[in-house]
Amino acid sequence: KKLAVFISGGGSNFKSVHEACFEGLVHGDIVVLVTNKPDCGGAEYAKNKEIPVVLFPRTKDAPDGLSPSDLVAALRRLEVDFILLAGYLKLIPAELIQAYPRSILNIHPSLLPAFGGKGYYGMKVHKAVIASGARYSGPTIHFVDEHYDTGRILAQRVVPVLANDTAEDLAARVLHEEHQLYVEVTAALCEERLIWREDGVPLIQNKE
Ligand code: GRF
Repeated sequence: KKLAVFISGGGSNFKSVHEACFEGLVHGDIVVLVTNKPDCGGAEYAKNKEIPVVLFPRTKDAPDGLSPSDLVAALRRLEVDFILLAGYLKLIPAELIQAYPRSILNIHPSLLPAFGGKGYYGMKVHKAVIASGARYSGPTIHFVDEHYDTGRILAQRVVPVLANDTAEDLAARVLHEEHQLYVEVTAALCEERLIWREDGVPLIQNKE
């Protein structure tokens, strides 16, 4: 399968999925990296690996960026099957969601539906988890709809929140699981092990 990854930052999830593709753990190819931050660490990595980088969206500060319909056309030209958001901080426009139904995933660093939504990104998520007294946290991979963090949940992992954790400690523990979970889920997508229950809940079938 052909994959597009969208990022705004360091792109450690992007790198771990890319390495898994390279090692053959994921039967997929990242054919394009989409970013709103052309100078971010992940974009540098993509250039080194000769993965095409596309700027999206077009804004006043980024006049070279693509419009939503140009982006859809570019993804179609590249025959992209699945889109993985990995620390992409912009809302995905309706046009893209309609063009790729049930094909766009995001990873979020909390156990959704807790600690999700517009204000919850980066360290803010982990600070809020610690302040709440929650004893567990962990990443969620979910399908993307037109709002932040509300699409159907596909996969989660649980990590403990320890008594003396700083937000940075918890972030590192969650991120470690994110890398494994995104690789596992992407492997399942590429092997066509994703199924949809009649009530609209997505499930991953285990390998035979
Ligand atoms: C991750 O914590 C992810 O859950 C969130 O953004 C962060 C991206 O980290 N959506 P990285 O750029 O993959 O290192």
